[in-house]
Amino acid sequence: MVWIRGIDEIPISLSYKNAITVEKVGLATNALFNLDKGDSLGLRGPLGNKFKILEGSTVLLIGGGIGLAPLLYLADVLKDNGTNITTLIGSRNKESLFFDDELKKVSKVFLSTDDGSFGTKGSVLDLLKNSIKDLDVYDMVYVCGPDRMIRALLDLFDKKNILEKTQFSVSRIIKCGLGICGSCSIDPKGLRVCRDGPVFYGTEIIDSEIGIYMRDHAGVRCRL
Ligand SMILES: Cc1cc2nc3c(=O)[nH]c(=O)nc-3n(C[C@H](O)[C@H](O)[C@H](O)COP(=O)(O)OP(=O)(O)OC[C@H]3O[C@@H](n4cnc5c(N)ncnc54)[C@H](O)[C@@H]3O)c2cc1C
Ligand code: FES
Repeated sequence: MVWIRGIDEIPISLSYKNAITVEKVGLATNALFNLDKGDSLGLRGPLGNKFKILEGSTVLLIGGGIGLAPLLYLADVLKDNGTNITTLIGSRNKESLFFDDELKKVSKVFLSTDDGSFGTKGSVLDLLKNSIKDLDVYDMVYVCGPDRMIRALLDLFDKKNILEKTQFSVSRIIKCGLGICGSCSIDPKGLRVCRDGPVFYGTEIIDSEIGIYMRDHAGVRCRL
């Protein structure tokens, strides 16, 4: 948890061993961009779980938008374990693309943009269908991205019967970070992203709210 004094405390992943990568979306993330060199931050953690790593395996990473941030760090760790990595990157457009060069150093990369300004035109789901012929060759699929992308992938992996070989990092509004307040609960099981997650196997979240609704800062359901 990253605390920006007087503003808020927000969940952020490590994108390197000693760095974070942030997308401006609202109050706290904008405030982070306004900090000067030498300003300080509060840090609390680590909290929750992490991706489960398989030794010496063949894996597929799928990242959408800022979801690529934790996947870069994961890819670095997997590479050191002798893992064979393929990465699919989905981005809105060429300008919002990042970490593609870094990921190319440790994995085979396929790219798509929504508007076709770079890589294949279309969603990361289209990219997956067009570039990966056989999902069975992967020992594990790791995913991080927006809820709609997660839902599309959950449904596809369910059809292919490989949910137990998939791990998803899920985003929800985190407040206490300790499993107490319920802000980050996912219906219907009440899984808490801050404590039970943020990483879940596909089998744990296939029948969940993900991709349908989430809760805002007040805990009120909001449609995606
Ligand atoms: C485990 C985890 C890891 C994360 N890692 C990163 C990271 O490495 N880099 C990064 O840039 N962001 C990351 N996020 C998302 C980040 O925490 C939110 O973007 C941030 O809290 C937004 O704060 P804000 O005050 O700028 O925006 P707000 O003003 O709070 O909200 C702006 C908009 O974003 C939505 N929103 C806010 N927080 C979330 C959330 N957690 N999930 C989904 N929608 C949200 C709000 O509903 C609103 O529509 C992560 C989230 C989680 C749960
Ligand atoms: S943020 Fe309080 S229970 Fe998860």
